[in-house]
Amino acid sequence: MVYNFDEVIDRSNNRSSKYDERLKKFGTMDVIPLWVADMDFRTAQPIIDACMEKAKEGIWGYTSRPDSYYDAIIDWQLRRNGWNIDKDKVSWCLGVVPAMSVIMKLFSEKGDSVLIQTPVYSEFYDITEAAGRNVVENQLVEVDGAWEINFEDFEKKAKDPKVKMFLLCSPHNPLGIVWTASQLERMFEICNDNDVLLVSDEIHSDLIFHGTRHIPTATLSPKAANNVISCISGTKTFNLAGLQASTTVFPNVEMKEAFDQYWMSMDVHRNNAFSSVAMEAAFNEGEEWLEQLLTYISANFDYVKDYCDKHIPKIKPNVPDATYLMWLDCRELGMTNEELCEFFIKEAKLGLNEGYTFGRSLTGFMRLNTACPRSVLRQAMKQLETAVNRL
Ligand SMILES: Cc1ncc(COP(=O)(O)O)c(C=O)c1O
Repeated sequence: MVYNFDEVIDRSNNRSSKYDERLKKFGTMDVIPLWVADMDFRTAQPIIDACMEKAKEGIWGYTSRPDSYYDAIIDWQLRRNGWNIDKDKVSWCLGVVPAMSVIMKLFSEKGDSVLIQTPVYSEFYDITEAAGRNVVENQLVEVDGAWEINFEDFEKKAKDPKVKMFLLCSPHNPLGIVWTASQLERMFEICNDNDVLLVSDEIHSDLIFHGTRHIPTATLSPKAANNVISCISGTKTFNLAGLQASTTVFPNVEMKEAFDQYWMSMDVHRNNAFSSVAMEAAFNEGEEWLEQLLTYISANFDYVKDYCDKHIPKIKPNVPDATYLMWLDCRELGMTNEELCEFFIKEAKLGLNEGYTFGRSLTGFMRLNTACPRSVLRQAMKQLETAVNRL
C-alpha cells in the first residue's frame, strides 16, 4: 500500500495535546504546532484495521497480554536490531517516562545524583528532580556544528560516588545523534567501572536515517546485557503515544520483579484494550508504512535545511540521523531565550519547543518537529522567513 503523507488531516477534534494545548503552552491558539513529539500522520493501515476490529467487539474489559504480543516485540528487535530479548526479563509499562521514573525510585535513593547528557529530552531533568535526585550534566560539546561527548567530563562525573544512575538517550533527542558502538561501549564501561546503573532510553530507535544503524546498548557485550536497563516502545515509531504502552528490558529477573511489584502495588499492570492490539499489529505489519514514513521525513529534513540555507541563513538547522526533530541554531538572531520564544510565537506564529528546556544553560536554540505534511512545513518556513526579514 502506498501512503499519502502529504494529506493534511484536521486534528481540531482529535483531542490532541499538540493542538488543543496551544493556548496553555504558547498563550495563543494562533501558532502552527510544531512542538511535542507526535506526528500529524495517520498510522499504518494494519494498526488502524486491528483497532477497528477491536472497537467492533464492543467488549473492552480487563485485558490479558497473549504470547503473540511479546512475540511481536521480540521478533521486531531481533529482525531489525539483532537483539535477542529474553521474555522472562521483559516488563510492560504505560510509557518510557513512567518506566524510567520508577526505575530511578527503585534503584537509587533520594539525594543521589543522576547523570544526563544535555541538551536532552527535558523529562530527563524533570523526572530526576521530581524524584528528589540531583541532576548532574555531562554537556555535549559543539564542534563545527556537530555535537560530541566530552568523555573526560563524563568519566569525572561518573566517578562522583553520589552519581548512581546514567540516563542515556539513544538515539538522541533533540540532536538526532545515532551513537556508534565505540561511543556506547566507552559510556557503558565508564558506568560499569563506577557502579553507575545505565538506563538506555531507545524510544527513537526505529526512526533512523542516512544509512546509520541503531545499536541497542544491551547488545554491546554480555556484560552490558547483564547490567543495562533498556526502555523501548513502538509509540514514537508508529505515532501511538495516546495508547500509552512501552516495554522495559531488565538485565535480570530480580530487577524486573521489583519493577512489576511497584506497579502491582497500585494495580497498574494491564494494557488498555487497544494498545496491545495496536502494538502487535505495528510490530508484525507496520514495516511497509515505516519505510515510506522515513523517506518522507528525510525529505522534510532536506526541505527545511535547503530553505534555511537559501532564505533564512541566520537560522542553521541540524539535519538529524534519528528522530523527526530538528535542532535549530538561531544564535545569529542575537536574542535572549525569552526574546526568541516571543519571536517564534508572536512574529512567526510558530509553536516550537524552546531549546533551553533541553539544555538549561543554552541560549538561542529551538526544536522543530518535522513530522507533518510538507505543505505545513512550507507555510511554517515562509512565516519564519517573513518574520526574520522584518527584524
Ligand atoms: C527520548 C524520549 N523518551 C521518552 C519519550 C516519551 O515516552 P512515553 O510517551 O513512552 O513516556 C519521549 C517523547 O518525546 C522522548 O523523546
